[in-house]
Amino acid sequence: MTSATLELPGINFNLTEEHLAVQEAARDFAQTELLPGIVERDNEAKFPAEQVRKMGELGFMGMMVSPDYGGGGMDTVSYVLAIEEISKVDASASVIMSVNNSLVCWGLEAYGTEEQKQKYLTRLASGQTIGAFCLSEPEAGSDATSQATTAEDMGDYYLVNGTKNWITNGNSSGICLVIAQTDREKKHRGINALIVEKGAPGFTVGKKEDKMGIRASDTHSLLFQDVQVPKKNRIGEDGFGFKFAMSTLNGGRIGIAAQALGIAAGALELSLKYSQERKAFGRQIFDHQAIQFKLAEMATKIEAARLLVYKAARLKDEHKDYVQAAAMAKLYASEVAMWATTEAVQIHGGYGYVKEFHVERFMRDAKITQIYEGTSEIQKLVIARELIR
Ligand code: CAA
Repeated sequence: MTSATLELPGINFNLTEEHLAVQEAARDFAQTELLPGIVERDNEAKFPAEQVRKMGELGFMGMMVSPDYGGGGMDTVSYVLAIEEISKVDASASVIMSVNNSLVCWGLEAYGTEEQKQKYLTRLASGQTIGAFCLSEPEAGSDATSQATTAEDMGDYYLVNGTKNWITNGNSSGICLVIAQTDREKKHRGINALIVEKGAPGFTVGKKEDKMGIRASDTHSLLFQDVQVPKKNRIGEDGFGFKFAMSTLNGGRIGIAAQALGIAAGALELSLKYSQERKAFGRQIFDHQAIQFKLAEMATKIEAARLLVYKAARLKDEHKDYVQAAAMAKLYASEVAMWATTEAVQIHGGYGYVKEFHVERFMRDAKITQIYEGTSEIQKLVIARELIR
């Protein structure tokens, strides 16, 4: 049953045959479906619509959702293994997948009503449509309690007005979870989370961001002008919206940590290959200690990041407190991703600076992992608060 075992005091990582099968399926998919055309999609900032459709068919879009709602019923460890493999090739595809799985499906399954799950989660988990998580605003990024978007209570519906910024899947999503302020006097306890469908009158897609990295994912602003959202589309009790966003992000950070890990590991794989092909001073560059030292340090830090990511995933699967572990995993894995991809470009020399060798894209993609779903500074804040809690 157990084909690979890794142990830490108090935590066992037993990768089952099922885990390894998911890992292999994700790796195959990344190599056969995501690698072809990746440089063009990055250059043209072209959303991988066909690839995302196939990811839905293969069950990658709702991995942890119960089969009762069209999901794969898998654990978080399976999910991070898949995200890692996909991110080794295509971080744009993995953020599309991560937002749908962690921020949209998970939140709906954990806190939605049965009616909401039947109506929305089933479509999201099976990949029929994809979701967006709409928290950030022009003036509310890290300071997420300062929501300017309003959801005015009109009796049997909310009237939503405002602008959301930097929304992953902004254009391609069919279902959006929108965080908005209903009662300003109650501060974060007056915030609600609402399910808003694309096509709702007054809901429009705004500017597309021209990004440094993850360029094939579509990041947009979303505009709400007198959008009527039925009360039955509110997630949880009145005023639960901020808590909903925070607890959803706790799990989301595990997905982004796995993404960062995959980007770093992908950069190492390419660097190892290149160092055995490229010759300088009459021998493979791998035979130069300067290159060996870089590769060894990359491998060591990536392994440390992997342990943190798997630990956070395992804690979540065991229904233990994973808030600090998730923040640590994201903080460390994203720093490793930025550092390791920079080293990968250096190992590749001039080839590292051009697009066809992929590592410059990894370096650009790595940067966002230190920013979204909470900057590195926010992760430190979360970790420090947990230390004294
Ligand atoms: N888990 C659960 N609850 C939490 C929480 C957490 N990690 N952090 C805070 N809360 C709860 C608190 O318990 C508190 O609730 P009560 O009043 O009932 O006790 C409430 O939230 C308010 O907490 P604070 O007073 O601590 O709030 P704060 O304003 O001081 O700071 C913060 C909170 C940690 C800085 C938070 O604002 C934060 O995480 N900011 C970052 C936001 C973020 O990650 N944005 C990413 C956007 S989404 C994205 O990037 C998706 C994408 O496209 C890829």
